[in-house]
Amino acid sequence: MPNVAVVGTQWGDEGKGKIVDLLTEYADLIVRFQGGNNAGHTLLVQNEKYILHLVPSGILYPEKLCLIGNGVVVDPQVLKNEISGLRERGIEVTPSRLRVSARAHMIMPYHKALDIAREEARGRVKIGTTGRGIGPCYEDKVGRRGIRLIDFIDRQGFMKRYLANLSEKEKYLRYVLGSDLPLEAEGERETLIELSRELAPYVSNVSVEIQKAVDSGRSVLFEGAQGTQLDIDHGTYPYVTSSNPVAGSACSGAGVGPRILDCVLGVVKAYTTRVGAGVFPTELQDETGTYLQEKGAEFGSTTGRKRRCGWQDMVVLREAARLNSLSGLAITKLDVLSGLDTIRICTGYENDEGLQEAMPPSLEELEKCRPIYEDLPGWSQPIGEARSFSELPMNAQDYLHRIEALSGVPIYLISVGPSREQTITERNPFDSDSTT
Ligand code: IMP
Repeated sequence: MPNVAVVGTQWGDEGKGKIVDLLTEYADLIVRFQGGNNAGHTLLVQNEKYILHLVPSGILYPEKLCLIGNGVVVDPQVLKNEISGLRERGIEVTPSRLRVSARAHMIMPYHKALDIAREEARGRVKIGTTGRGIGPCYEDKVGRRGIRLIDFIDRQGFMKRYLANLSEKEKYLRYVLGSDLPLEAEGERETLIELSRELAPYVSNVSVEIQKAVDSGRSVLFEGAQGTQLDIDHGTYPYVTSSNPVAGSACSGAGVGPRILDCVLGVVKAYTTRVGAGVFPTELQDETGTYLQEKGAEFGSTTGRKRRCGWQDMVVLREAARLNSLSGLAITKLDVLSGLDTIRICTGYENDEGLQEAMPPSLEELEKCRPIYEDLPGWSQPIGEARSFSELPMNAQDYLHRIEALSGVPIYLISVGPSREQTITERNPFDSDSTT
């Protein structure tokens, strides 16, 4: 049975949650492989809204196994709260349905304090992080002083590591960042120990679990978080997150080899959004931008910040196609474009050196790039009821055909509203003829 990765092609918030939720029906295992609770996957199921930050979106289907891979950074308090929040709403979340890699790194309270203090210290050149401690936790992982879930549940070993880190970070916070933010609240250690007890039953060897499932013919859905342009290596550095949202990281972040992936589905919003700071070549700072922001309810599902909005950018999408080996696209929020007279697509960038085919790695060069636009006629009618491609207005069909032609990637799914039903399926990524 095919294994599929779903990844974001832009700056995150493409609507991956809905697409993963939709495809979960065809998978047996759903695996998160990077990021942490900086992500916020919004799902609308039977008129009930769920926002998941850590638990894979597959949890809303009763019989699926959800795994959090080694590449994810886990805030134990957030995980515990998310589990209890889901249980209160009648969703079964037990260790038979949710497991976490023993190798996943834990976000400690001092990571959050450092994230916030660093942003403060950056003054006017803030990254605009979510403040969830993601970057500092990945730093400790790479610096080989992190605390993995397996270390967290070993009480004595944990305290030793925790205290050593705390003492180092206290000095850094005070003397380098000049911050007097408390690194540790009263009773924090007891809370952490209690959390480690509660999370112990969820510990697993995710890599082995996936291999066993695949060997017995089961299908895996790898759920990406954030988006390609936020990738620490390939995104608009330094205005990026601290993990690799590209598809290749499904392998290192879950503990599988690259041959396991049969299909990579890139989720792309019908326009572009970005939260936080950083270059955004097709950003609209006019009434059309406000229209998209308001009509698309473009607020961050983790921080509630307003998202910046702009036109569809084919340089960004072609980057995503190359960096992720995209097999197909899932276009989301097409309905938000209804009512615009003209829709613009950025087909390339130009700067003083001429046409830029790819995203320049230099931020300064990228900032000098001007988008080259192609204008297409819009459509006025609402499209939320369309259930097949032919039911879409001709101008919407033309817009989608143009995206396919300019990106070189076929469209598999089109989302015309937030609910599961509001989807047009051109090709199911789990059908064997959809895989590449
Ligand atoms: P961090 O991941 O909290 O360190 O934030 C780094 C940058 O990535 C900031 O610009 C955030 O707004 C952005 N970011 C992180 N996670 C997401 C996400 O899930 N969606 C959109 N942007 C994100």
